[in-house]
Parts: sequence; C-alpha cells; structure tokens
Amino acid sequence: MPIHIVGTGAFVPERVMTNLEIQQFVDTTDEWIVSRTGIQERRIAGPDESCSVLGARAAELALADSGLSADQVTHVILGTFTPDGYIPSSAAYVRRILGIPHGMAMDVSAACSGFLFALETARAMVTLHPEAVILVVGSEVVTSRLNWQDRGTCVLFGDGAGAAVVTSQPRPGSGMIVDVILDGDSSQSELLVVHGGGSAAPLKFGEPTGEDFFVQMQGREIFKHAVRSMASIANQILVRNGLHPSDIDLVIPHQANIRIIESLAKKMDLPMEKVFVNIEKYGNTSAASIPIAMAEARHKGLIPPGSKVMLTSFGGGLNWAAALLQF
Ligand SMILES: CC(C)(COP(=O)(O)OP(=O)(O)OC[C@H]1O[C@@H](n2cnc3c(N)ncnc32)[C@H](O)[C@@H]1OP(=O)(O)O)[C@@H](O)C(=O)NCCC(=O)NCCS
Repeated sequence: MPIHIVGTGAFVPERVMTNLEIQQFVDTTDEWIVSRTGIQERRIAGPDESCSVLGARAAELALADSGLSADQVTHVILGTFTPDGYIPSSAAYVRRILGIPHGMAMDVSAACSGFLFALETARAMVTLHPEAVILVVGSEVVTSRLNWQDRGTCVLFGDGAGAAVVTSQPRPGSGMIVDVILDGDSSQSELLVVHGGGSAAPLKFGEPTGEDFFVQMQGREIFKHAVRSMASIANQILVRNGLHPSDIDLVIPHQANIRIIESLAKKMDLPMEKVFVNIEKYGNTSAASIPIAMAEARHKGLIPPGSKVMLTSFGGGLNWAAALLQF
C-alpha cells in the first residue's frame, strides 16, 4: 500500500551557542570545531523546553503543513534518546500538549537513527490500519546529557525537533515512502553510550551524577563506522529499487559531521549540491537532525514534485538506516 509523508515541520530553541562561547569554558577553538566538524553554532533548549515541548512545536507545524488537525491524529511515534523522563513517554506528552484526544503514543529508542526507525514503525502501522494518521517525531534535548567538560563530545551536539505526518492518503506536494531499510550491529555498542541512570547503572538517592550520566563516545571509531554503514545502506536501498546514485535528486543525511557527509557523498559519487547540509547551524541534533533537515529542504523549495529523496542515518546502538522517498 502506498504510504505518504503529507506534512513536515521543524522547531529549534531560540538560544544560540556559538563555538566562540564554548571555547571560553572548554579547551577548544572555533577553528578546530569548524575545520573538524563543520559546526559553527548549535541551539540550546531553555528550562521549559523538554523533548516533548520541542517535539510538539515541530508536530504542530507538520500538521499545519499537512492540512490535518490534531484531533485526526491516531498515533504518535517519537524517536529520542533524551526523553522527558522514564514514564510517561515523551510521545504521550506530545499527545497531551497537542490535545490529541486518544490513540497510541510511544517512544522509539534508536539514538540518531530514531526518526527513521519511527518512520518505518509508522509505515507498518499504516499497513495494518490504513485509516491511521501518524505523527512521526524526532526530538532531542541532547544538551541535557552532555558533559560540558568533555571537549570530545560537547562541541558536537545541539537541541531541536522535527516531525512528519504519515498517512495512506496523498496530498499535493506529499512524498511517498518507497522503501526503508533499518540495520544495526551490537558488537560495537560500547562506542557510543549513555549508561548512567539506567537499570544497569542506577542512580542512588542523594548521590551526585558521574561522567557516565552523559554521552560518552569513541569519536574516531564512530566516524569510520558512520561513513561505512551509511554508504553501504544507501547503496543497498538503491540496488533494491533498481536505481543509480545519479537518479537521486537530494540526499538528506544525518547531520553529525561535515566530513562524514562529504565522505558519504564521495563514496556515492554524488556532488555536494545534491546533499542537504545544515550542520553549521545546529550541530548534531540526533534523532531530530533528519526531520529538521527534511522540513528545511522542503521549505527552501529543494524538493519539488517529482524529486527522489534519500534519507540516511547512523547512530548509537550501533544502528543505521536509509529511506527512499518519491515526491
Ligand atoms: C569527534 C571528532 C570530531 C574528532 O575529530 P578527529 O579528527 O577524529 O579527532 P581525533 O579524535 O583524532 O583527535 C585529534 C586531536 O584533537 C583533540 N580534540 C578532540 N576534541 C577536540 C576539541 N573539541 N577541540 C580541540 N581539540 C580536540 C584530541 O584530543 C586529539 O588530540 P591529540 O592528537 O593531542 O590526542 C570526529 O572523530 C567525529 O566527528 N566522529 C564522529 C562522532 C559522531 O558523529 N558521533 C555521533 C554519531 S551519531
């Protein structure tokens, strides 16, 4: 059954943190961050901007774009690794903020691949329930789990949210989800972790948090895996659909590092003009990066009707994914 993205939206906090600001409290420089990552600044959530609050703002915009209303939504599926809390899910809070009267809401935990894992879950739901109207959200307050003394991680991430409305009924300008591939390999799980506060490393009442409460990462190893796995899954989805890289009009990759994105483009033999990049403004917003980028690309008119678009992500788990869209 054809399943479509009928609306997209993105929302980022107002507060901008530049590299120059970071270099005042950690041993780094604007020059190092820009040359090694492409990031110039990132957004930082305010005290009232939790994962669900950012996600709900993006979802409102996606609904407005789709012409549908909150009371028509049947499911909310939200990818994040920085939820509001353990219970309820951030998806349940999005449902409450938007006044969605009832229906299923759940979070998906797949780190930076969270949006694509949620998108494929939505596709499965629409297949089972063709009348479904699903809000697929990627929302992160990564800075809530950043160790601002660790220069190897704190310079890389930022906060934000993106959303898409998924249904079986196309609308003008909507994009059909042609194919999705999700994959992963747990033998390298320890390369990117947030252990502290979980059931394997519980926080004890009154004890301070340790370094393990925050993102810990072996950056160089992650870099290699990111390029390899995104290039391989992109190739897999092209071959499975009888396409050549030159058939793709726009690639929207997870925004983790400009050098990862450039290496991916090189491996796919694609010019950078066909690759969407906004990492300079937001850094790595994890599960939010692809839906923010997709909403911005549509807003800028970079996805006219007839476009073939590829989304591809990589993240902790390790997980990686690709989706092929026909607008
Ligand atoms: C983290 C990352 C930017 C580091 O870049 P790199 O070119 O691999 O740098 P290295 O780790 O080899 O470190 C090079 C040097 O820079 C230093 N360095 C690391 N972070 C620094 C910072 N913010 N500022 C200044 N120097 C820094 C290192 O300590 C190292 O110094 P040394 O040579 O004296 O030991 C890069 O590996 C990366 O982006 N990896 C992927 C991370 C990622 O995307 N994670 C999320 C996946 S979804």
